[in-house]
Amino acid sequence: MDSVITDPVTKAPFDVESVRRDFPVLKGKAHGKPLIYFDNAATSQKPQVVIDKLVDYYSNYNANIHRGVHYLSQKASNEFDVVRSIVQKFINASSEREIIFVKGTTEGINLVASTYGRKNVKAGDEVIVSAMEHHSNIVPWQMLCEEKGATLKVIPMNEKGEIIMEEYKKLLSDKTKFVSVVHTSNSLGTVNPVKEIIRLAHERNIPVMVDAAQGIVHSTIDVQKLDCDFLTFSGHKVFSPTGTGVLFGKTELLEAMPPYQGGGEMISSVKFEKTTYNEIPYKFEAGTPNIADVIGLGAGLNYFSGIDQAGAHAHEQALLKYASEKLSAIDGVRLIGTAKEKASVVSFVIDGLNALDVGMFLDTMGIAVRTGQHCTEPVMDQFCIPGTIRASFLFYNTFAEIDSLIEGVKKAIKLLKN
Ligand code: ALA
Repeated sequence: MDSVITDPVTKAPFDVESVRRDFPVLKGKAHGKPLIYFDNAATSQKPQVVIDKLVDYYSNYNANIHRGVHYLSQKASNEFDVVRSIVQKFINASSEREIIFVKGTTEGINLVASTYGRKNVKAGDEVIVSAMEHHSNIVPWQMLCEEKGATLKVIPMNEKGEIIMEEYKKLLSDKTKFVSVVHTSNSLGTVNPVKEIIRLAHERNIPVMVDAAQGIVHSTIDVQKLDCDFLTFSGHKVFSPTGTGVLFGKTELLEAMPPYQGGGEMISSVKFEKTTYNEIPYKFEAGTPNIADVIGLGAGLNYFSGIDQAGAHAHEQALLKYASEKLSAIDGVRLIGTAKEKASVVSFVIDGLNALDVGMFLDTMGIAVRTGQHCTEPVMDQFCIPGTIRASFLFYNTFAEIDSLIEGVKKAIKLLKN
């Protein structure tokens, strides 16, 4: 089964075994069993090239950047600076100035809510999010709305976990000052029609932010094609180190926004009477950045760009279909999130069984899944469940691994049900 997936364009087979060799963790064991890693929506594994890049930085040119005339600092600065261009090309931003390094998606959203939001959202205004947002795309907007006396509006979703576009259209009004939506749901797998969401908001000159925490690894993200005003993602979900992330913003918006944090790098001149700020993107990058990990982010994105993208996507979609069919065929298993457009994330519940117990049972078989609310409590509330068992796949996963998951779920039902 694993060898039959072919690139839909070139028809070449997607070589899973070859890509698996790039990831040292995948050769490992958990509780003495071969590791089956299905927690990719939480974080992706790291290829050897990324690990090597970090070791190289710390072994050979560890230095602070943009501050030293010496050899090591110059080398570190060059390696760091080139990543901005790698990111720009990766998401097709029109300029490197539109790329801000942040800690991750959460910081990207908080930055926009605290700067653009605080400046532009006033009492009586409205901010729109969707019913399937991660907490990090709810709470910053709630905090902003509370501070300003504005209202958070929520686009409802249907029983499959799809945004109801007719309801979204009805929510858009003269009061709407901002829309922030998730590209791909981390708990349901739904891929949202973000291009259309953006187009409809733009008809009313409302800016839109896209949370691409999951979308960045499952879809091709082109910020110019989407025409989004802001987009953010985390490096660790796309084969790169934790503590890295990117905020994209359109130049004219970033230039008009106040800074986020004060400190070094974000200033042009500091006098006790008045400080003037640096130009974008540095205006938003106070303090010594996460140098090593940003350099690792460059390696991670370069690695991903070198993978057969169409083949990887086709493989992930085939894994999704295979797992969804096999799981639905088990008595008592119910899939949560059955949207037409989905990324390779399968959430499910089992009648009479607690998700955590099933997750712990699967762990004893070496299978890593995530259980619980997945930081999307309102999603769980809508489906009237306390949580799900979530298996999320990347291109290095195999059909044989899914067979083991199915076997594990069947065993769990047999052993854990009274
Ligand atoms: N947001 C991450 C997840 O879905 C951590 O698991």
